[in-house]
Amino acid sequence: MSHKIAVVGGDGIGPEVTAAALKVLEAIAPKHGIAYETIEYPFGTDHWLETGGTDGGETLPDSAFAEIQQMDAVLLGAIGDPRAPVGLVEHGVIMRMRVGLDLFVNLRPVKLYDARLCPLKDKTPDDVDMVIVRENTEDAYTAQPEFTDKGTPDEVAVQPMRYTRKGTERVIRYAYELARKRNKTNKLLMIDKANAVRAQDLWTRTMAEVGEEFPDIEQDHAYIDAACMWMVKNPEWFDVAVTTNLFGDIITDVGAMIQGGLGVAASGNIHPGQVSLFEPIHGSAPKYAGKNVANPVATVMAVGMMLDHLGHDAAAREIEATVAKLIQENVIKSLSAGVQSTSEIGDLLASAVAG
Ligand code: IPM
Ligand code: MG
Repeated sequence: MSHKIAVVGGDGIGPEVTAAALKVLEAIAPKHGIAYETIEYPFGTDHWLETGGTDGGETLPDSAFAEIQQMDAVLLGAIGDPRAPVGLVEHGVIMRMRVGLDLFVNLRPVKLYDARLCPLKDKTPDDVDMVIVRENTEDAYTAQPEFTDKGTPDEVAVQPMRYTRKGTERVIRYAYELARKRNKTNKLLMIDKANAVRAQDLWTRTMAEVGEEFPDIEQDHAYIDAACMWMVKNPEWFDVAVTTNLFGDIITDVGAMIQGGLGVAASGNIHPGQVSLFEPIHGSAPKYAGKNVANPVATVMAVGMMLDHLGHDAAAREIEATVAKLIQENVIKSLSAGVQSTSEIGDLLASAVAG
């Protein structure tokens, strides 16, 4: 069966890192008997401006959304550009797909491939190997903002942290299953702020109740503020953690830093068994756009996660192992922008997986 993959390069460096990552996919596919076709979409800020901008510009039209629903995966570069109002294109493209395709798991592995990339003193790859399972369809992210008495001294702005039992339960169950599958510490850490945000009592109860189905998995807990601290101080304590949408957004940027920066951190927006979306965690970095300096490694890692989702776990493992090897051998010298060109790193990885 041939996989249909939608490709949205998006804004800034998105199209360049996506092109480099697709070269790696093209190089590895024949070896693993992977048949696929890519369907490119132009969505992003340029497209929004070209179709009218603030005057009815298009972010993700219904017709394209309907096509994507019928596909197997989406590879996304990056969205975000100062020429559009804050959050408009992000909501129109990324949030629309996360919520519209019901991609309730945002899977964010944090793995260090070489000690030289870690900003923490004396930490090695043995110490940094965890997965954060971020809820991806609820929380303040998908609640409507409300402003009353806007622009006056009495203004009140509200955007609630809203959680449903079903939304909480399915992501927690996914995380328990992942902890079991990884079989590393057989422990699941829940990260919340239930002491201050009492609505998160729903998370506390659901964690305990679903946990009864997983007697082999130990339950652990940390508040988000403490979890950020422990992640920097003792990353080796982390294996699988589950958390809310907003806290997951924040702590995975900390995670990205301890694994060597946004240049390597990838994520999967997943609904098991359905079309899912894969992207680097980094943004569009407009200042590097069009200069062939951005590092495409994170997007290559996103392609690896996509292959895993599509059932090609051997190819996925090979991509990860190849990235790790080229980093360890200093062929990929850095994960920062500008050390080697985007296309050079793409070509190095493509020939390494082809060979
Ligand atoms: C991420 C990003 C997005 C988020 C932005 C671009 C809306 O920071 O994927 O982590 O907050 O989820
Ligand atoms: Mg983020």
